[in-house]
Amino acid sequence: MNDYGTREDPHAQARAARQLPLLLHSLSCFREIFEIVYAHHPISTVVEVGVESGQVSGIYAELGASAVYCVDPAPTESLRAAIAANEALHLVENWSPDVLADLPVADLYVLDGDHNYATVRAELEWVLTHAPDAVVVLHDLLWPCSRRDQYYEPSGLAAEDRHPSSSDGPTIWHDELTPAGFVGLGAFTCAQEAGGERNGVLTAVEDALAAHDGWRLAMIPAIFGVGVLTRDEALLTALAPYRDSTLLSTMENNRLALYTRLLQLQFEAVAHSGHADQLAETIARQGRDIERLTGEAAGLRAEADDLRRQNERLRAMLDERPATRAGRVLRRR
Ligand SMILES: C[S@@+](CC[C@H](N)C(=O)[O-])C[C@H]1O[C@@H](n2cnc3c(N)ncnc32)[C@H](O)[C@@H]1O
Repeated sequence: MNDYGTREDPHAQARAARQLPLLLHSLSCFREIFEIVYAHHPISTVVEVGVESGQVSGIYAELGASAVYCVDPAPTESLRAAIAANEALHLVENWSPDVLADLPVADLYVLDGDHNYATVRAELEWVLTHAPDAVVVLHDLLWPCSRRDQYYEPSGLAAEDRHPSSSDGPTIWHDELTPAGFVGLGAFTCAQEAGGERNGVLTAVEDALAAHDGWRLAMIPAIFGVGVLTRDEALLTALAPYRDSTLLSTMENNRLALYTRLLQLQFEAVAHSGHADQLAETIARQGRDIERLTGEAAGLRAEADDLRRQNERLRAMLDERPATRAGRVLRRR
């Protein structure tokens, strides 16, 4: 339920906004879409591929599923705890797509694991062949993974399924990857080039749809793009307000533009702070040099004073002695 605030509580919307992560990326934001799916299909078994925090796994159970198989090869301790606390959730610590054949056929598949063509194409090949009555929800169908592979774990892929990749990331602001872009920070890498055949998640979905009759895609162009694959016309109709919404798409594009601008500013700020650290070191070193030279100058001044005094003493001594020829010469100088 949205909270727009009131005259008495004018800050409610801002409070809600600041509780959200700066970058929304979880399927948990799509609860109302899952509600529509559940309203059109009896869903008792769910296979969720790519779980991460488990933020969204509980929603599948809350909406009515009795068994949710949460497939993730790298579960954190907090994810293990969240899954252990809910008896409808079952952790499957394994890799998709290979693991799909070992699990019960599900009513709902949620595919949000490794976002590359080969993985998603193989996942869809298995699901569309073996679960023709299921609904399939896919995440990250739009930028940056739509036409560019991302690799959490490329080592399991055949060499021809891997594009040359980089730890740099894409940005909205130009077409090349950049270290100031949407980078994986060690979690994933990105294909160096976007586009072409067998590259990206949307390309995988298009090829799977071309190979399997009767399935249709409803694209919801928000929060990296969610696709609902179904053979059910009534479900497609129910999703119509969200499907290909220009309003959602415009807001998403603007969100991505702002976020990648923020990443760039952050990158530059870190680079400048490195530069400022160097300047501070130079200033400190020069300060130490100045102190040392000031000390040396004081020593030399004292030495000069001493020599001047000795000189004056010698002159005085000369003045006191009876005049000799040599003395006269010295005094003349
Ligand atoms: C984007 S996150 C999932 C986010 C989660 N679905 C949500 O909406 O909150 C991707 C997850 O997929 C997992 N993953 C990567 N490759 C996978 C694979 N081949 N099979 C299953 N999970 C995979 C990663 O460990 C990571 O936790």
